[in-house]
Amino acid sequence: MNIDHVASVRQVRRGTHPDPIAAAREVELGGADGVTVHLREDRRHIQDADVRRLREALRVPLNFEIAPTNEMVELAMALKPATAMLVPEGRNEITTEGGLDIVADPERIASVIARLASAGIVTSVFVDAEEAQIRAALVAGAAICEVHTGPWAHAFAQDGGIGPGAVAELAQIERAGALVESLGMRFNAGHGLNEANVSPIARLRGLHELHIGHAIVSQAIFHGLREAVARMVRLVHIER
Ligand code: PXP
Repeated sequence: MNIDHVASVRQVRRGTHPDPIAAAREVELGGADGVTVHLREDRRHIQDADVRRLREALRVPLNFEIAPTNEMVELAMALKPATAMLVPEGRNEITTEGGLDIVADPERIASVIARLASAGIVTSVFVDAEEAQIRAALVAGAAICEVHTGPWAHAFAQDGGIGPGAVAELAQIERAGALVESLGMRFNAGHGLNEANVSPIARLRGLHELHIGHAIVSQAIFHGLREAVARMVRLVHIER
């Protein structure tokens, strides 16, 4: 699970609550197999200290999502997360908008992956469901491809379920996953997944891991809001 948005809520007040490390404990208790944080260049949610504390506190593997920049690679090499996940990063984007363009700059990605490997870090690359990108990922030395499911989520929402657009996107992700596997890399997937659209992706053959964030944090608000209000009402009434 990606817990960036726990930090997003904290950063609204620049305080200490809610603490992403406390959230990560709940995430582990909920049964997640791993925790992902994206340390963005602008530090809009997760902070460097969060990643250090998570590295100490987590029982499940830490997946460190980063842009392939020198600053982030050095941080990853010092922190030694279980995996580093390379994503493109646009300063003005609201969330990661597309897969990494490995085809456009294979040497740079290969050199980043080699540096991370020298620190014992396994690298995943976030790619669109495109054959050329997946083949380039292999050449660059990636062990894992996370296939972008955003277009599927978008088509599912547009179609109001599994319509023609969603079927086409699903088929493309399925083909991409089969190629990732056949090339000996691990097939992960993620972005935009929620309780309504996750099942057809979760059924894909060879899928190893799903990476989900926003939908779970959103759902948690509704599961916890009633109790949080009731607790506060009780506290206030004790004083009256
Ligand atoms: N995978 C990658 C590479 C991402 O950048 C994100 C968003 O941070 C996710 C998965 C999770 O996406 P969502 O928050 O939409 O579930």
